Amino acid sequence: MGSLFEKKSIERIRADAEAGYAEAGHGHGAGLRRDLKVLDLTALGIAAIIGAGIFSMIGTAANAGGPAVIFLFMFTALACGFSALCYAEFAARIPVAGSAYTYAYASFGEFVAWIIGWDLIMEYAIGNIAVAISWSDYFTSLLAGYGLNVPPFLTMDFLSASRGHGAVAALVAAGQSLEQLRADSSLAASLSAFDAWASAPVLFGVHVVCDLPALFVTAVITTLVFVGIRESKRANNVMVAIKILVVLLVIVLGAFYVNPANWVPFAPNGAAGVMKGVSGVFFAYIGFDAITTTAEECRDPQRDLPRGIIGSLIICTVLYILVALVLTGMVSYTKLAVGDPLAFVFGPQGANLPWISGIIALSAVVAMATVLLVFQLGQPRIWMAMSRDGLLPPIFSSIHTRFRTPWFSTIVTGLVVAIPSLFMNLTEVTDLTSIGTLFAFLLVSGGVLFLDRDDAGRKGRFRLPYVNGRWIVPGLLVATALALVLFGRGALAAYFDPRAPFAHKIPITIYAVFFAAIAALSFVKRLSLIPVMGLLTCGYLMTELGVTNWLRFGVWLVVGLTLYFLYGRKRSRLGRSAEPPSPGAPR
Ligand code: ALA
Repeated sequence: MGSLFEKKSIERIRADAEAGYAEAGHGHGAGLRRDLKVLDLTALGIAAIIGAGIFSMIGTAANAGGPAVIFLFMFTALACGFSALCYAEFAARIPVAGSAYTYAYASFGEFVAWIIGWDLIMEYAIGNIAVAISWSDYFTSLLAGYGLNVPPFLTMDFLSASRGHGAVAALVAAGQSLEQLRADSSLAASLSAFDAWASAPVLFGVHVVCDLPALFVTAVITTLVFVGIRESKRANNVMVAIKILVVLLVIVLGAFYVNPANWVPFAPNGAAGVMKGVSGVFFAYIGFDAITTTAEECRDPQRDLPRGIIGSLIICTVLYILVALVLTGMVSYTKLAVGDPLAFVFGPQGANLPWISGIIALSAVVAMATVLLVFQLGQPRIWMAMSRDGLLPPIFSSIHTRFRTPWFSTIVTGLVVAIPSLFMNLTEVTDLTSIGTLFAFLLVSGGVLFLDRDDAGRKGRFRLPYVNGRWIVPGLLVATALALVLFGRGALAAYFDPRAPFAHKIPITIYAVFFAAIAALSFVKRLSLIPVMGLLTCGYLMTELGVTNWLRFGVWLVVGLTLYFLYGRKRSRLGRSAEPPSPGAPR
């Protein structure tokens, strides 16, 4: 057994991937199919990024922050941009499936690699539960538009239905009639939950409420991913073209219906209102990193992956900021707390172009299907990499002889997403996904700081530009402190208010210490500015997710660590076989 923090050299990672532990485990010996080029990768990135975040979650974020939500989109893009550059740096050095898991193995060693591999389940599988649930919302309203009504108890999660039922029942008990409540449009969501609960069959005293379309779409996408990368790529490219066209349609057509009066006041609820949208807005950007899991299916991963990552992020950032501006300009932000805001602003309360609303609803269904596809593709490949390293059972890296896909991991991913998506609640899974992914970004940014900067022999490959952070990072710390004293009196007073519960101050306290430590380290070690900015920006976004999510995340990590010490630690291959001879190229 090697040490917990024993690192795997980049040469070793490559050699292991080439040797393909699947061969040893199952005798198939087939490799993955190398079929992806730069355009496919950019399309895969966009496929993963544009989805539930911009089609659905932007509504609540804009409602809380007003038009100023665009600043949150800009800040989040910046945080993702720093991390994307770090992902690109790793992708150019380690062209192996496994994404942040593999990168952490090279920079921090096995223990942190396991933590990140376990954490990535939150981004990929739990993220996909959120997308499947949102997909189901759009899909059922689309069907309803055609007069096809699925019974509500088959389109909702148990928790939402029971909460909605409780809320409506309380109002009725307080003396209001159901008819009165139905006249109030702000209660529409609670009432549909009430109806779902009331109409559900009861088995052994339990109301049978579940989200069947979410299960259905997961099953279809898993089958596609199982059958092959080429089929997935073709389906994906067509769907991506459709969704970009529709987002452009929203922007261009919507611009004609903007009423600048809706942008006043620009930040009705101040910075606190804007920051309420962190989880949803960050969720909207997740995905550019997922394409690194296809490294072993790319023609030239070291050249094309960095381009795909950065290209897809830039395109989506521009589209997102424009969408946010147009949405908040078309209708008042106060009306935007809906699940389908892009269709809504073209409905009767906005531009009143019902046919456009219909097209948008249809394309949202397509857009979210591509997100599902990329993450259903990514999760099995991460497990494949972990299994090759011995941290998961060998069958997780077994490759199907005919389809040449990691068949077992693909089926397990399908089950892990499909079954909870029947029952889980959207808000909870979105928050978990965002905190888990931010943690992955944080570790990838930090990991770059541990890489050797001497990168001769990488001509024509992406290189992360080195900017010395020695003075800039401590300068930023001082500037932030000054800005807080000059403009953030309210926030400071709230922090030092002894009546405010201490638990809620924990994340920001940890962040302040972290910022100071990074500033000191930057000064002493002349750390590279871009990864440091990745650490600081992603770290800040994590603090905005609240202590409850930190706790849930902590529990998740504890479960993961238990599994590691029960299984992976004992079976890790790292200490067992020799390092391959160094080819002489620097790491
Ligand atoms: N960014 C992806 C979405 O918004 C996860 O659905």
